[in-house]
Amino acid sequence: MEKELKKSVIGEPMDRVDGRLKVTGAATYSAEFNIPNLTYAVLVSGTIASGTITAIDTRAAERAPGVLTIITHLNAPQLAGYQASAIAANGKPNYRVFGGDKIFFNGQPVAMVVADTFERATYAASLVKATYQKDEHKTSLEDNLANAISPSRGKDYQRGAIDAYKTAPVQVEQTYMLPTEVHSPMELHNTTAMWDGDKVTVYTKSQGVKATQQSIMNTFKLTDDKVQVNSRFVGGAFGSALRTWPHEIATVMAAKKVGRPVKLLLTREQQFTMVGYRPKTIQKIGLGATADGQLVGITHESYSQSSVFEEFTEGSNNVSRFLYASPNVTTRYKIIPLNVGAPAPMRGPGEATGAYAIESALDELSYKLNIDPIALRLKNYAENDPERNLPYSSKYLKECYSIGAEKIGWSNRSQTPGAVKEGDWLVGYGIGCGVFGAHRGRATAKIRINADGNVNIQCATADIGPGTATSMVLIASDALGMPTDKITFELGNSAFPQAGQQGGSSTVSSVGSAVHDASLALKKKLMELSGKTESDLSPGNYTDIIKQQNLPYLEITQGSQGGDEGSKYSMYSFSAHFCKVHVHSVTGQVKVVKAVAVVDAGTIINHKTAGSQMIGGVVGGIGMALTEEALFDDRYGRYINGNFADYHVPVHADVPDIEAVFIDKPDPVLNPMGTKGIGEISIIGFAPAIANAVYNATGKRVREMPITPDKLI
Ligand code: MOS
Repeated sequence: MEKELKKSVIGEPMDRVDGRLKVTGAATYSAEFNIPNLTYAVLVSGTIASGTITAIDTRAAERAPGVLTIITHLNAPQLAGYQASAIAANGKPNYRVFGGDKIFFNGQPVAMVVADTFERATYAASLVKATYQKDEHKTSLEDNLANAISPSRGKDYQRGAIDAYKTAPVQVEQTYMLPTEVHSPMELHNTTAMWDGDKVTVYTKSQGVKATQQSIMNTFKLTDDKVQVNSRFVGGAFGSALRTWPHEIATVMAAKKVGRPVKLLLTREQQFTMVGYRPKTIQKIGLGATADGQLVGITHESYSQSSVFEEFTEGSNNVSRFLYASPNVTTRYKIIPLNVGAPAPMRGPGEATGAYAIESALDELSYKLNIDPIALRLKNYAENDPERNLPYSSKYLKECYSIGAEKIGWSNRSQTPGAVKEGDWLVGYGIGCGVFGAHRGRATAKIRINADGNVNIQCATADIGPGTATSMVLIASDALGMPTDKITFELGNSAFPQAGQQGGSSTVSSVGSAVHDASLALKKKLMELSGKTESDLSPGNYTDIIKQQNLPYLEITQGSQGGDEGSKYSMYSFSAHFCKVHVHSVTGQVKVVKAVAVVDAGTIINHKTAGSQMIGGVVGGIGMALTEEALFDDRYGRYINGNFADYHVPVHADVPDIEAVFIDKPDPVLNPMGTKGIGEISIIGFAPAIANAVYNATGKRVREMPITPDKLI
């Protein structure tokens, strides 16, 4: 039965193929192309949160040195695609950049200045004076809960009896608040556009060049041969580049107007208002259990903010439907439209938000029951997916619990809060779990083997940081039986074969399958040409066959997609996050002193980059739990901490030793490599692990993130 063992490179801790380019500065990010005749755009942000622009005075700015044009709603070129979608599905006017005089949120662009240098554009932008008719605005989620509406997505859910937790002998009923968090990648969003006749070439920060190309095609009514999008290196995105934003459209528009290439780089402050964020969410959890810890019912109600011009739904309730085997589950979801920019998927969208609430509430239940939190999770372990009533394609969460407990030193934890001390520091241990759908989308790869034996693969996927090309080289190396240094992988170019966006932890599963299948198709072609059987064919023969056929190269384009696995199995990745915290008994300072993330994500293609990705997600979890919060001054409807001095992302001093452990057992169903996906579960569940550890250390339950010292003393 056992297959013949062959030495595989899968899993090898391989250095990034583009690592040297990145650390030496040779990697060219989209704002770094030196294009002849380049001009520079700067956006002028509006200063009210709701109302109408009554006048816009651009005279002084137009007279400033080097200014080429100033675009406002009064003179913006009409875009065919914008006309078609002037009214949103909810009957309200759609927000379209420079599409009208209405202001929907503070920071909305009211003008774009294009000049011959960045400095001159910045100076001229400061001279643009807009005047407004202000309307009353709403930016506070708490103050506007009465305006909550049911969105068209994110339907309510019922399994078993309604609110059954209320009938249980032991109950937890609590409310958890997660503030607005901003993606905050190091690389600012930026776009460069240049027209050549009726064809436009765009360099932009994107998580999917095909999707960006399609948006530009739709907006400017162009065919795909007229729109070329490049996004080869991306300095982090976390979901913020999963859509084509108005500033990108504005840049393409401006380049057409001035007839020269235009580059736009947002400011850090503009990053807070123009490119999405995780919406502030209030979650009410009701848990009911028997005295021995069997869940009777879960109720999960969420309220999250959205903009007044778009519906954004945060899938925060999803996780409560399937993570634990409760017979009764009720979820309700509402959004509150506010005068804020549009939210966007961010770092484990939905599940990270929801896991914070449910994993905190479960921890609260464990103290009420006086049951160890891991034992409580095991008691309610879902062997099958209770939402869809299907078997899991693979699930090793039990193994994650036991490995993590051992590595963090769970046996040193006391079930009595505040019982363990190290000097002036209170010591606590916490656990939180992550779960996220394992997806496989359609993708196509083009593979070429040259007569010199080098292999090149192309696909229009993205790499926002995880090391996509490196994983793809390993997958191709394994399938072809060739050394990795003979294989190159190119991405981030809309002219390459189709791939979805890099989002939802799906790239290795989707693009990796295409690379795998294309590699096998290439081998098959080599067998056909040479008449060799599979056992006769060896990598040493590849170039001989091509030469015998008098070919310069051999090339195959191969599409790949899954079948109906999703209707037979529930496919998820799982993680169990553990941490040990110190809380200073006098100052309330919280230090995460150790973190362990144990991950069931199927086969791991590259232990080095996968480990880095897990560490990155854990750092994001530290941000969620301890530092990140975008704060509005509701009087003006404006962020008061829209910069990195006041919006705190974790820095090195906040980050402890983080150990990532992979179960590394293949998923037998999802794709030929056996992978599931790690991007989202790296963060999902880590914030509640910290919150639970802080409670274990102090006996104080902080239900409003982030846990800052003032909330503990
Ligand atoms: Mo992610 S939020 O799927 O970029």
